[in-house]
Amino acid sequence: MTSAADASNPPSEAGTVNGPRHVAIIMDGNGRWAQMRGRPRLFGHHAGARRVREIVEACPENGVKYLTIFAFSTENWKRTQVEVSGLMKLFQRYITKEARALSDDGVRVRFIGDRVRLNDKLVEMMDNLETMTAHNDRVHLTIALNYGGRDEVARATKRLAQDVASGKLDPETVDEETLPKYLDTYVLPDPDLVIRTSGEARISNFLLWQSAYAEYEFIDTLWPDFTADEFSALTQKYGTRERRFGAVKV
Ligand code: FPP
Repeated sequence: MTSAADASNPPSEAGTVNGPRHVAIIMDGNGRWAQMRGRPRLFGHHAGARRVREIVEACPENGVKYLTIFAFSTENWKRTQVEVSGLMKLFQRYITKEARALSDDGVRVRFIGDRVRLNDKLVEMMDNLETMTAHNDRVHLTIALNYGGRDEVARATKRLAQDVASGKLDPETVDEETLPKYLDTYVLPDPDLVIRTSGEARISNFLLWQSAYAEYEFIDTLWPDFTADEFSALTQKYGTRERRFGAVKV
């Protein structure tokens, strides 16, 4: 397993005031946005997908190098078959439509989540997009698809246990630096700021381990209405916060 030790780069100093380097977003409110317009929920998801480009493009000017977005959770399979299959088609369509632009814009795309339940065609498209953009470094866009924080920790623990069983890992050496190396996010720094749209103040199983010290913003805007201006305002507001990581201000 590749070590994340070098790539993982959490903010190092308590109280450092800066823009967020890694922003994670729970894109909520597509369904309500559509219902308010008397349209089916999938209409809202399509509108939501169109929003993603604007926010990705706003990252560099706001000093955001890493953007992680929650596109489909391990719990979302409980939705109607129409919605789930519509979303799966939307992800394929999104990759087909956006791959070239993302690649040309210097965006490196990664996917996190369990791919086992996704259909083969979609997984192949995800793999291809990751390969196609692997040389990019302007913005790192991570799309969480069939992702759940608890599921991720469980899968990571299973691999860690396999390494212990095979003698590759000494259990005495396991500490809080060890598990992140087995998480889907092992090459990413922890999120500094987590935004959730649509007025719900929940984290819904998103980046549970990684967000231990993140700042949170729960905003009323529904995801399809979320703009680059609002994104900028939230990143600027973050810069005024004091992060202490458990330390005391001196
Ligand atoms: C939650 O809103 C949103 C989702 C479950 C899907 C998120 C997907 C997108 C924004 C579009 C696709 C993204 C990519 C990357 C192509 P909700 O439906 O739960 O909203 P509600 O709470 O109003 O019902």
